[in-house]
Amino acid sequence: MEKIIVDGGTPLYGKVEISGMKNSAVAVIFASVLTNDVCVLDNLPNISDVADCLSILESIGAKIKPISKSAVEIDTRYIQSGVEAPLELVRKMRASYYLAGALLGRFGNAKVGLPGGCDFGVRPIDLHVKAFEKLGAMVTVGNGCLEATCDPEKGLNGKNIYFDCCSVGATINAMLAAVLAKGQTIIENPAREPHVVDVAGFLNACGADIRGAGTNIIKINGVEKLHGCEYDIIPDMIEAGTFMIAAAATGGKLYISNVIPKHLESITEKLREMGITVEEYEDAEAVCVFCEDKIEAINVKTLPYPGFPTDMHPQMSVLLCLADGASTLSETIWSNRFRYVDELQRMGAKIKVEDKTAFFEGNNVLTPAVVKAVDLRAGAAMVIAALATKGRTEIEDIAYIERGYVDIVEKIRGVGGNIRKAYFPDTKQMNNAS
Ligand code: EPU
Repeated sequence: MEKIIVDGGTPLYGKVEISGMKNSAVAVIFASVLTNDVCVLDNLPNISDVADCLSILESIGAKIKPISKSAVEIDTRYIQSGVEAPLELVRKMRASYYLAGALLGRFGNAKVGLPGGCDFGVRPIDLHVKAFEKLGAMVTVGNGCLEATCDPEKGLNGKNIYFDCCSVGATINAMLAAVLAKGQTIIENPAREPHVVDVAGFLNACGADIRGAGTNIIKINGVEKLHGCEYDIIPDMIEAGTFMIAAAATGGKLYISNVIPKHLESITEKLREMGITVEEYEDAEAVCVFCEDKIEAINVKTLPYPGFPTDMHPQMSVLLCLADGASTLSETIWSNRFRYVDELQRMGAKIKVEDKTAFFEGNNVLTPAVVKAVDLRAGAAMVIAALATKGRTEIEDIAYIERGYVDIVEKIRGVGGNIRKAYFPDTKQMNNAS
C-alpha cells in the first residue's frame, strides 16, 4: 500500500503550474470516437483517469500513440459498430458514460457498462437516458449496462431537450449524441461548466456546429461527419483552486500559472471574503494567493457553475476549520459529500453535519493523524489539512488522489512542502471505485 506522508506546518512558497483539466480531458477523449479520424490532444493531465479512458478506447479498437507526457494521438478509424468495452475498465470511473453518447452518435447504437465514480450517494443517469430517447434512441438500463439503439433507417434526429437540473454529464452526452444527428437540437438549461464549453470547442474544431455552450441554451445543427483535429485541453480550475486553498491554509504565497482566472471567479470571491489576497493576471493566465492576516469565517454554498464548485467543497472545509469563528458549508449537488468530515475530525476538526450543511466551529488547531482519502477531492482536502498541521500526518488510499491530480507530491515539494510517498505492506484490498 502506498501512503502520502506529510510533515506539515511549513508555508508553501513559490510557483506552481496547473495541468490540463481532468473533467474536460476525459470527455474530449471519448468525444474523439465521433470523428472516425485521427485527433491529437495536448495539455492532457497525466493522471490515472486519463490513462483509463485511453485504455477503454484501445480496448474497443482505437490506436493510441503517446507523443509526450501531455499529448497523445488517437486514431478512432478502426472502431467498429457494436463494440463493447470491458466492464472492469468502464467501472473504474464516472466518465466512461461518455462512451455511450459517442458510440450512439457515430453508429446509432451503444452498449456500455454502467459507470463507477466517487461515492457521493445516488448518482442517477436518468437525464442521459432522457436525452438519448429524445433524439430517437430506444434505451434500456439493466444487467449492469446501458444499451441504446436507434432505427437504422431513421437514425437520430435533432430535438428540444430540457433538463430540469444542471448536469455536466448529461449535457455533454446530449451534445455527443446530437452532433451527427439530422436537424437541430436545442438543449435548454444545460450545465455551463468550462469543461462543457471545452468539449463543444473540441467538437467544433472537428467540424461540428455547436453554439451557446456556456450559456442557458445550446444549439446544435447536426453535420454529416466530423474530422480529426489538434486540440489543447483547458487548465484544471479545481487543481488551481486546490493550490489556492493550500497557499492560504499554510499561510504561504503561491503564484499559480496556466489558469484561466475567469474560471476561478467563484473560488477567488470566497477567498477574498475570507480576507485572503488573490491577485489575478489575466494576461499571464496566473493568480497569486497569500494571506497576511487571520482567515475570516464565512458561509459557502455549492452550486453549478458559475457558483462555488462542489469539487472544491472538501478543500474549502479545511480553511473553514482554520477560520476565525463559526462558518457553514451547504452542499446542494451531492447528497453524501461529507464523508471527509470523519477524517478531518481525526485531526481535531470541530465540524457537525446536519442534513446537507456542515457547521464549523472555527479556530481549530489541527493535530496530525492517520487519515484516508475517501474520494478524490476529500483526498486533496487531507493533503491541505496535513500541510497546514504541525507534525506528521499519514494519508492512506492515495490512488483516489492520483486519479485527478498530476504529480501532486512533486508539485507540492517544488513549493517547499515536506511531503513524500511511501510504500507499506499491503494490509487490505483497496476499493478502487471513484
Ligand atoms: N443528476 C441527475 N440525473 C442525471 C445526472 C445528474 O439527477 O441523469 C444530478 C446529480 O444527482 C447531481 C447533479 O445532477 O445532483 C449534478 O450531477 P452531474 O451530472 O453534473 O455530475 P457528473 O457529470 O456525474 C461531473 C464531474 C464531477 C462533479 C460534478 C458536478 C466529471 C467526470 N465529473 O459529474 O466531478 O462533481 O460534475 O460538478 O465531469 C470530481 O472531479 O471530483 C468529480 C466528482
